[in-house]
Amino acid sequence: MNTIHFTNLPDDLPVAENEEQKKQELEFLKSAFQTFNETTRHLQESYDKLQERLNALDLELEAKNLELEKNLQEKERVKNYLNNILESLTTGVIVVDKNTRITTFNKTAGIILGMTAGQCLNQPLADTGIQPLAELVQSSGGQTRMEDHEITTRDQRQVHIRLSASPVQDPAGHRMGTVLILQDITQLKRLEEEAQRNQRLRAMGEMAAGIAHEIRNPLGGIELFASMLKKDLAQDPEKRPLTEHIISGVKNMDRIISSLLLFAKSPEPSRQQCNLNHLLKDIVNASADFQCPDNVKIHHDLAVGEAVAAGDEELLRQVFLNFIRNAVQAMPDGGSLRLTTQTGNTADSRSHITVTVADTGVGIAAQDQKNIFNPFFSTKDKGTGLGLAIAHNIIKAHQGTIDVESETGQGTKFIIKIPAWDEN
Ligand SMILES: Nc1ncnc2c1ncn2[C@@H]1O[C@H](COP(=O)(O)OP(=O)(O)OP(=O)(O)O)[C@@H](O)[C@H]1O
Ligand SMILES: [Mg+2]
Repeated sequence: MNTIHFTNLPDDLPVAENEEQKKQELEFLKSAFQTFNETTRHLQESYDKLQERLNALDLELEAKNLELEKNLQEKERVKNYLNNILESLTTGVIVVDKNTRITTFNKTAGIILGMTAGQCLNQPLADTGIQPLAELVQSSGGQTRMEDHEITTRDQRQVHIRLSASPVQDPAGHRMGTVLILQDITQLKRLEEEAQRNQRLRAMGEMAAGIAHEIRNPLGGIELFASMLKKDLAQDPEKRPLTEHIISGVKNMDRIISSLLLFAKSPEPSRQQCNLNHLLKDIVNASADFQCPDNVKIHHDLAVGEAVAAGDEELLRQVFLNFIRNAVQAMPDGGSLRLTTQTGNTADSRSHITVTVADTGVGIAAQDQKNIFNPFFSTKDKGTGLGLAIAHNIIKAHQGTIDVESETGQGTKFIIKIPAWDEN
């Protein structure tokens, strides 16, 4: 930019010279103003251009911001959508990073393992306390692997799970972590075991029935000859008790054979109105087959009104007699036996009667619980191990169910559900 200098002109210059100089100065000033105006115009133009550019940039920025915001919203929508899918899955999903730290933990994984996402997110997988999870991630070594395990959940449930581990990779194929899929297969396992047990029972039943028939005939002969011998030895007090031993042994074997035959033949229950409140009271108070020891206290907690099941009273009497006998035998030092009946609906809305036989006895060890319904499984010196196997067959033939809850040293509870009597 040009700079304008104003100087004080001397007064004593000759007029002509003075005039000339003033003219020159005026010219100079004029040109300076012109330059100034020119520069101002340039400046104004530049400023306008700059303003235009700025406005354009502002618009561009606004459009970019809008686009970014839209992108962000879209990303958020996709994230929520995927999250909703993840949370709605009926299989458990756990994702861990390269250091096996949990980055994703869906609701079903929490239900299966008995813990919440809050307890697990950002924690090492090993800290969940479910050993097979961490072990499978370790052993999979970048491959997809599947294993079945029985685990104890954090809320102390025994659950069968099917676990699969697959590597998670970024678009370049680098391993970022592992995704674990969990399926609760407890129900499936139960059905499998039940199907196997039924098959085994049928085979054992057929074999047992064959043997029982073969043994019963000679056994009848032994009892007859022992009775004759007993008569002959009427005058011999030393030898007579020996024949009594033989007879009682034969009777015991006959009882076992009767149980075997009962177990072997598939029960075909008649369908009568069977008041379970009356039946239970009758067994404990008036049955010749049951004598309650003095140190066992019996409590009744029976459904108000009628607890009428559709069933075969004689078969159900055998079932409950065995449950009650087992309960009493599990309390050699005394305790309490609680008999409960309740009316209610099953999951499929069919009405049923629930009978609970609970004792405060020795309990059943966890490893024995799956065997107690097997024929010949007994922990008693004189037990046939057929009581529960027969009960299982009879209740199944009534379209009922038996469940057991037991803790060693605390007691056992058998829960039996039988369809209720229905007028139709
Ligand atoms: N209430 C209970 N408490 C503890 N253990 C039980 C109870 N009921 C059953 N059991 C266990 O289950 C096993 C099988 O019972 P089950 O009634 O089939 O045969 P058992 O009682 O041994 O023989 P039996 O019925 O011929 O006398 C028992 O030996 C016992 O170990
Ligand atoms: Mg028994």
